[in-house]
Amino acid sequence: QSGEEQTEDYLFKVVLIGDSAVGKSNLLARFARDEFYPNSKSTIGVEFQTQKMEINGKEVKAQIWDTAGQERFRAVTSAYYRGAVGALLVYDISRRQTFDSIGRWLNELQTHSDMNVVTILVANKSDLKDAREVSTAEGKTLAEAQDLFFIETSALDSSNVSAAFQTVVREIF
Ligand code: GTP
Ligand code: MG
Repeated sequence: QSGEEQTEDYLFKVVLIGDSAVGKSNLLARFARDEFYPNSKSTIGVEFQTQKMEINGKEVKAQIWDTAGQERFRAVTSAYYRGAVGALLVYDISRRQTFDSIGRWLNELQTHSDMNVVTILVANKSDLKDAREVSTAEGKTLAEAQDLFFIETSALDSSNVSAAFQTVVREIF
């Protein structure tokens, strides 16, 4: 088997979810292209990027889907979740209301996707230390209670962005 064929062996759909402006699109931009947009606009509809990753010495592809946090800009919910095997559930540590929405997002995820979708709770914008409204301990506690992985990230300074995606894909794999 050629290397080219091997890369086709594993293609995993991963979805980004969470309230508007928590940084979903910038996490994807940082991960897939090492870019950051200080003034990015709300996503409209759905976008996805396919990213090659190496897991345990094997090349796998993650097809990462991104849609709007706001209901009115969102893609058709059932189509968005269909076939997803991983999810990054994102909130913004500087806006508690985005953390309070996590339960609602989990409900939607569980309603529309397989029960065993690998999910990581992502506490984004860890660079905003002075504006923090949700402690690391609160995030960890919620993740443990809901049986989710947990990580704090910053799309701005890049910290833990790759690790967030890697954790999900490694677990699926
Ligand atoms: P919707 O598409 O509306 O659902 O929003 P989104 O979750 O995709 O948020 P987006 O990535 O567009 O980011 C919203 C704003 O937060 C933008 O101004 C980003 O520059 C900013 N932002 C994203 N990630 C970070 C981060 O890690 N740190 C800081 N300081 N700002 C961030
Ligand atoms: Mg977006």
